[in-house]
Amino acid sequence: MKVNSYYSRKLHSLLGVIPLGAFLLEHMITNYQAFNAGPEGFNSAVQFIQGLPLVLFLEIFLIWIPLLYHGVYGLYVAYQARNNVTNFGYFRNHMFMWQRITGVITFVYIVWHFYDTRFQVTLGNVEHSDFGVLMHELLSNPIYFTLYVIGAVAASFHFSNGMWNFLVTWGITVGPRAQRVSAYIWGGVFVIMSIMFVMALAGFTDESFATEAVNTAATVTKIG
Ligand code: HEM
Repeated sequence: MKVNSYYSRKLHSLLGVIPLGAFLLEHMITNYQAFNAGPEGFNSAVQFIQGLPLVLFLEIFLIWIPLLYHGVYGLYVAYQARNNVTNFGYFRNHMFMWQRITGVITFVYIVWHFYDTRFQVTLGNVEHSDFGVLMHELLSNPIYFTLYVIGAVAASFHFSNGMWNFLVTWGITVGPRAQRVSAYIWGGVFVIMSIMFVMALAGFTDESFATEAVNTAATVTKIG
């Protein structure tokens, strides 16, 4: 039983980095195009991904199944945790607690975000080329915008602090100095990721998404 839980924990830990961490970084870069290059840039980034060979296969095996395992097992791990920051107020103890809190926030956020976007494609209500307009309409509501910021910052924290933890538990950062340097690096990653995600979200609120995204989608449909 103990051996079983050792391997399921190790698998949970590994999936958080590969492929989920890699996916989160890719997702951040794609969405950052909304801020950086407007509707056209965002749409071509989406098209690039949709043009990858076996994209549905990649989605299922590199995103959905790992996310389901890491997310559901993560909820169980978070539920089991004995948070004791009131007794032991160490920095790492706080981080342990926040790793679990942000995991739960990320879980709720992903379910909501998936329902709003990818699931609507499955239902046939929208196409990938409509995502710019869809996000524009959603994020123009200040309440949804705030909830999206909370979700994106929570996911960035969860990934960055998770990476710090991963490097310790897999024996890569062993000594206190290595762990201190790693803390600065992943702290920096957290700040940069959060800023890039918030800029991406702000990018979608631009009016150009209401008009230009429709035009781009129409052009894409014509060409395609
Ligand atoms: C974008 C999605 C996600 C990414 C990129 C991600 C990434 C990570 C990473 C890199 C770790 C560190 C691995 C380690 O502890 O060695 C981790 C740990 C963890 N994750 Fe996630 N995660 C995601 C979603 C979730 C969700 C939805 C939950 C649900 C609650 C969750 C719960 C946890 C928990 C509880 C840990 C700590 C495990 C431990 O300390 O033993 N994660 N995650």
